[in-house]
This record gives sequence, structure tokens and C-alpha cells, in this order.
Amino acid sequence: MKGLQRGIHRSVYCFLIMCSLLLFVSCSSKGDEKETKEVKTDTEAVETNVKTDDLTESTNVKEDSEVHGDDGKENMNSKDSKAYASRYQESGELASISGVYSDVFRVGVALSGFDIKEQAKAKLVASQFNSITCENEMKADFTLDREKTLALKDEECPVINMGNADTALKFAKENGIGMRGHTLVWYSQTPRWLFTVGYDDAPDAPYVSREVMLSRMENYIRQVMEYVNTNYQGVIYAWDVVNEAIATEEGEKNGLRIKNNYWYEVVGEDYIEMAFTYARKYAEPEQKLFYNDYGTYEKSKLFAIFKLVEELKGKGLIDGIGMQDHMQIEYPNLLDYQYALKKYAELGLEIQITELDIDAPDDTKETQAKLATRYKVILSLLEKYAREGEVKITNVTFWGLTDDRSWLNRADKPSFPLLFDRNLKPKEAFFGALQDESVNSY
Ligand code: GLA
Repeated sequence: MKGLQRGIHRSVYCFLIMCSLLLFVSCSSKGDEKETKEVKTDTEAVETNVKTDDLTESTNVKEDSEVHGDDGKENMNSKDSKAYASRYQESGELASISGVYSDVFRVGVALSGFDIKEQAKAKLVASQFNSITCENEMKADFTLDREKTLALKDEECPVINMGNADTALKFAKENGIGMRGHTLVWYSQTPRWLFTVGYDDAPDAPYVSREVMLSRMENYIRQVMEYVNTNYQGVIYAWDVVNEAIATEEGEKNGLRIKNNYWYEVVGEDYIEMAFTYARKYAEPEQKLFYNDYGTYEKSKLFAIFKLVEELKGKGLIDGIGMQDHMQIEYPNLLDYQYALKKYAELGLEIQITELDIDAPDDTKETQAKLATRYKVILSLLEKYAREGEVKITNVTFWGLTDDRSWLNRADKPSFPLLFDRNLKPKEAFFGALQDESVNSY
């Protein structure tokens, strides 16, 4: 009898489970875009746990080291005492640069997925920075997949593969670090086949029409944004929509870069506006759209950028200007730099220092002391402007973690421009960037 009862219970139980499953399936198949996103994100979350085993240690890094100033170690990052270097020498306690500046702006670093697969580097990044930028992996030559594009056979829709950027995106998500999306539309590191009929990679293959190219641009931007916003919701807070579109030395109208610039060649001069239009269409409302460039403090370039951004702002398409700031110890001079920051601030947009590094030809004590002073002067200026609200500086990103991996450090021309050495030890430059009392101010 009991057996029969148990049998009936079990059948009722199974029936109920079947009903709820059916209900769930029909809800999700009816689901709107949001529903699809949620399902995808969940799937991704499972994959993340499986695939990022090699990063699990780094995932816990932030909790262990409690670094960002608001979790019990305020003293270490306190701005009251500028004795970070001596504290480090005495006790080995290293202040966190993003902790020190946490109430002014984010402090970021450019890196590759390869970097953060090294536990020690991942740990250092998670403890020092609250923003990261992929040095390369979100550029078109990394994100576009030609084989899949050819297979799809759609002249208007190139196909992407974000596999290269996944490591950094997962790392950012798991560690609660924000990311700058760098970069959607750029004349460089973008394959020519993106612009040709049939995605042909022959060097002389003809270009598609402006209309087809605009569809390709829209589809490219849409896919990249949808991918990261679906799978890594909330990670990217700023997009470099267009990079380096001004090159006044080329003498073209409005200072536009035209040489070797397929975007300009195939779409025409409004390619910048169109890129921002599509980016606005697909970005999450809280994501900020940036125009990013180098040499932004050179007068002729400054005025061309100002005009371009002013027009975009008038159309509600842009939120900020990225000043790359690849500097030298003596260049640019401070007056030009201050002038540029204040001039751009007139537009009322955010300013982010997106690629800061300072070329330093050797690692002698003398050169490195100059480098430290230069960082101190630059950071104190940026902090002052940001605090006074004179310039809305919301991020300062260093272009690389360690000297040996810097793009400036080449076999034929070495450079030691960053805050950490190849052994991940903080350099005097690090303490300069913290405005430490041990570093000269001029
Ligand atoms: C430019 C680009 C960056 C990077 C640097 C050099 O500034 O915006 O992505 O390529 O050059 O490393």
C-alpha cells in the first residue's frame, strides 16, 4: 500500500516538475530582448567559472589585499601623509594608486590577456587599479573574424570573434574593475579586407560603396557592444568610439586624417559622426562615448579636435575627450598642457587621460628621478583640476604596467617609462605618481 502511495506521490511530483519546465520554456521563447540577454549571461557565467580556473586566485585577490581605500585600510592610502615610499621601505606595505585617488578619478592600466594570466601580475593589477584597457584585444584586427565573415556571405555584416578580449573582460568582471572599450573605429590596426568587395584580402581589391560600408560599420559596432554588454554587463563604462581621426599635418580640410585611412576613403568625411551615431544607438545609457587622440596639446591639433568634438556635442553624440598623453620628460611643456585641459573643459565634457606614459631613455638614477618628478607634477595638476571641478577628469590610465612590456621599449631604442619594473617592483616613478614627499616637485 505504502509502495502504491509513494508511486502516486512520485508521479504527481514528476507531473508538477514537467508543468513548471513547460511554463519556463514557453516564457523564455516568448521573451523579449532582455530575456534573451539574461539567458545568455547565465550561460556565460557557467562558462566563466569553468574557463577561468587559471584566474581563480586572482579573482580573490581584491578581497585578500583590501586595497581600494574603502575597505578597512584607509591609512595605507591616506592622502594626509605623503610618506608612501618610506612606509613601503619600512614595512613593505604598498599603497594602492587607485585607492589614493579614489575620491577624484579612476586610475587604470593598459594590459593584455597574456599579462593577467600571470598570477603575480593579476594580483598587482587588481590591487593597484580600478580600470583596465585592452592594449590590443579590442581593436578591429583582433575582433574581426575573416573566415566566419566569408562563411556568412553577407556583404553588409562582418563577423566578430571576441575570444581574444575574453580574458581581460572576465578578469574585470570577476574583480569588480571597470574597463575602457578601446577602440571601435580607427585608421590603424584595421584590416583592409573589411572595406573590400567580398571581403577580399588582395591588396588591390576594390572597395565597397559608402552605403555598404556604413552597414558594415553599424553591424560591427552593434556586435561588439552587444557582445560585451550581454556577457559582461556593467564592465565597460567608456568607449573610445573613434581614435586618432585628426592629423593636421596632412593639410586636409578640418584637419582630418586622410592618408591610409580606409574609413575616410570609403565612407567620406562624416565617418566620425556616423560612428558616434551607431555607438550611441547601441551603447548602454550609462556608457560614455569618447573621441581619443594623441598630441591633443599641440595647438593646431587642439583646435581641430575642439571643433570636431564641439559639433558632435551639439548633436548629443559625445560625452568625453580622451587625451592619450604619450609624453616625454620635457614635452609637452606644462603651459601647453594646462591650456589644453582648460580649453577642452570649455566644452563641459569629461576628460580622460587614456594612455599616459613618459618616455625615459635609461634607468639611471638621474633619469628615473626626473621621470618621478614629471609624474608627480602631472598627477598633482590633474588632481588639482579635478578637485576644483575646473576640468572634469574622470580617469587617468597608464599605458602599461611594467617597463619591459611597454610599446616604447624596443630593442633599438630602450625605454623605462612606467611605474613598475620587470620584477613588478614599484619604481620611484610610482611614488612620484602618488605625489610622495620623497620625490622632488620640480
Ligand atoms: C595609440 C593607440 C593605442 C596604442 C598606442 C601605442 O596611442 O591608441 O591603442 O596602439 O598608440 O601602443
